[in-house]
Amino acid sequence: MGLLIKGGEIVTASDRYVADIRVDGGTITGIGTNLEARTGDETLDAAGKLVMPGFIDPHVHMELPFMGTVSADDFESGTASGIAGGTTCIIDFCMQGAGQTLPQAIEEWHKRSAKAVTDFTYHMAITNFGPNTPAEMREVVEKHGITSFKVFMAYKGAIMVDDGQLYLIMKEAAKLGAVVTVHAENGEAVWNLQRELVAAGCMGPEYHPVSRPSAIEGEATERALMMARLHGTTAYIVHMTCKEAVHALERAKLSGQRCYGETCPQYLLLDDSVFTKPDFGGSAFVMSPPIRPGHVGHHDALWAGVANRMLDSMGTDHCPFTHEQKKAGLGDFTKIPNGAAGIEDRLTLMYSYGVRGGHFDVQRMVELGSTAPARIFGLAKKGSIAVGMDADIVIYDPSGEGTRSAKTHHSRCDRNIFEGFKTYGHVATTIVNGKVAWDGKKLMTTRGSGRFVTRKPSHFAQHAEVKV
Ligand code: URP
Ligand code: ZN
Ligand code: ZN
Repeated sequence: MGLLIKGGEIVTASDRYVADIRVDGGTITGIGTNLEARTGDETLDAAGKLVMPGFIDPHVHMELPFMGTVSADDFESGTASGIAGGTTCIIDFCMQGAGQTLPQAIEEWHKRSAKAVTDFTYHMAITNFGPNTPAEMREVVEKHGITSFKVFMAYKGAIMVDDGQLYLIMKEAAKLGAVVTVHAENGEAVWNLQRELVAAGCMGPEYHPVSRPSAIEGEATERALMMARLHGTTAYIVHMTCKEAVHALERAKLSGQRCYGETCPQYLLLDDSVFTKPDFGGSAFVMSPPIRPGHVGHHDALWAGVANRMLDSMGTDHCPFTHEQKKAGLGDFTKIPNGAAGIEDRLTLMYSYGVRGGHFDVQRMVELGSTAPARIFGLAKKGSIAVGMDADIVIYDPSGEGTRSAKTHHSRCDRNIFEGFKTYGHVATTIVNGKVAWDGKKLMTTRGSGRFVTRKPSHFAQHAEVKV
């Protein structure tokens, strides 16, 4: 039995036109006008709605062991929450645990992700570079089909890599044609600022952003990009929050370097007044890098970046912790688990505040949330609507208004950092691998139906080696 999507306005990164889509199995098999339903076909009326490639979240952390706890959504609840928000594929971060080889970490992550209800892949996070790491990195790319790595320049004493390790990871990734994704904050500076604040008795969540000012992100972004330039590595800076970082990326791009930047809705839509919410409410917003102050140019730089293509993608950094989990940092902000939910909110917020807010058009929304992540990270069958592509499709009804809330979202998190945000339209239908998995009201998912997607290195791969 096939699926026929009738009369919707198909939106890709480049086009907008009214047509029907035929789906057979998990693949788009036809696009045209006046396509007829065959016996047994399910027909969806999409008239007046936007029909887009399923959104891809390039930055999530499901069941992440972090800061003494584990993020609240597992691969099933997290991907289901994504489906309700129009996301049909995720890229999680597979973390190298202490004493683990990279292949051992992948084996562990495959056990966790087996319950996912959308397709998925990983960025391989290297937390300790040893003598065997170059060979393991090759195995990650060539045997496991994971073509992007991750480095954390922050979280000293836990998962941070130092400059020596950053140098080596960038160098090896360039040889493999792999992308290096970077959490760019100067971890040494954060460490010192945290110690100074704690010594001065500054303990509440409102001191979290004070311990991580924008200069710390700007400096690390510049350093990561320069290290990538040294080796000819493709760098992708995750969760960019501030003008200093955007300007560093701009300089690199304008000098001809191949590099990418991601931001997330929270950095565009929230400001640092959130940290003073009563009853430890500010803890819900503790994430790194932090949400920035308004009226000093950070938000403007990010909006300009997503509009003018200096920034490339919109992720979420979905990494939820419940209020109970956040209480680990009651009395010491440095112990508040960093992260928040967001996978379900992204598309509706992008449409409501990005498109309806006049910052970009619907094609650019598709590019930021689907096509660019697919292209940058080598998800060859995703990110567009075309014959032969995976039948991961989201149908958005732009009519009506709504409100984001923890009361209605599907994440296990009991907080929503966009609580009360007014929105336009809603995700009417999400099709995952050719099947309707969300009808605008309820989820219809099967535990474990998501597939691990293998990738090939970028066709840009230079395999360059710096001669020293
Ligand atoms: O605060 C955050 N962002 N938590 C998740 C881990 C990370 O740094 O992305
Ligand atoms: Zn990060
Ligand atoms: Zn993250």
